Amino acid sequence: MQATARAQPNIALIKYWGKRDTIRNLPAVGSISITLESLYTETAVAFDDSLSTDELFINGAAAQEALPRISRCLDSVGGERRARARITSETNFPVAAGLASSASGFAAVVVAADAALGLGASVDELATLAGQASGSAARSLYGGFVELANLDDGIEVATIREPDSWPLRVVVAITSDARKPVGSGEAMERSRESSPFYGRWIEDQAVDLDTARSAIASRDFSALAEVAEHNCLKMHLVMWASRPPAMYWNAATLACMNTVRDLRASGHAVFFTIDAGPQVKAVCLPDDEAAVREALVNTNGVTDVRVSGLGAGARRIEV
Ligand code: PMV
Repeated sequence: MQATARAQPNIALIKYWGKRDTIRNLPAVGSISITLESLYTETAVAFDDSLSTDELFINGAAAQEALPRISRCLDSVGGERRARARITSETNFPVAAGLASSASGFAAVVVAADAALGLGASVDELATLAGQASGSAARSLYGGFVELANLDDGIEVATIREPDSWPLRVVVAITSDARKPVGSGEAMERSRESSPFYGRWIEDQAVDLDTARSAIASRDFSALAEVAEHNCLKMHLVMWASRPPAMYWNAATLACMNTVRDLRASGHAVFFTIDAGPQVKAVCLPDDEAAVREALVNTNGVTDVRVSGLGAGARRIEV
């Protein structure tokens, strides 16, 4: 009745922003991401008939606030009449600060819960369950370059390129470890309800997905860089124009974006992307990693830098 799973966060290159069904948490648009390797969440789920409520510990501390979403996620795997569980989660990076901790967190929970209960659900089924908890979590079930496509009645997630066949590097510049001002779910709804640019964002997504898919297939770094930065900036402008606005950047976020643009102007293969938080993820070719790292470490306001390659999807581990 207990099992442990490891999952890595993923970084969207073509972003998911907006829901078409808030009950089933279905995204309004498809997305393309890369699964990281060196940042991870390890989650143990132990079902225990003697417990009267679920218990959640994140990095050693009781995490009451996050418990209702985790409990609902466990219900979706094991049914509402399941035994209560003790969930113990460890991450090697700051949580809830725009490093996709919810993606790796929920991906690890569904894999561990399924294994603990001996259910043997398929990866596709687990991706759908993780996606109900956090849209981006569905992508962390898969490794490498991952596409989440919208179907009429759900989602379909798949690896579109294996990590070893185009081993991009990601340099994450951490500019703050404060909790985000507004959760992504709430901010997406604000955008849908009030941003004048939301409709256009949804309409244009298919073109960005096509461009990125072709760039990944042909390993065309500059084409991927151009569409990924465009898609990221477009998502943030949708949020900025919401009422009230959702703004996740700080001064260092902007400084990092300038650092990345200067690097590219001087011939380095690198582009940035930013999610619902102030951290900047610089994606580059392996030969450019040292220069990108060095430039971001020396950018004003950067408190830490993490480097990662591309990794595998969520899986059960023996401890
Ligand atoms: O999975 P959620 O609900 O936390 O939404 C994540 C949305 C972004 O990270 C901003 C974009 C994405 O596709 O991951």
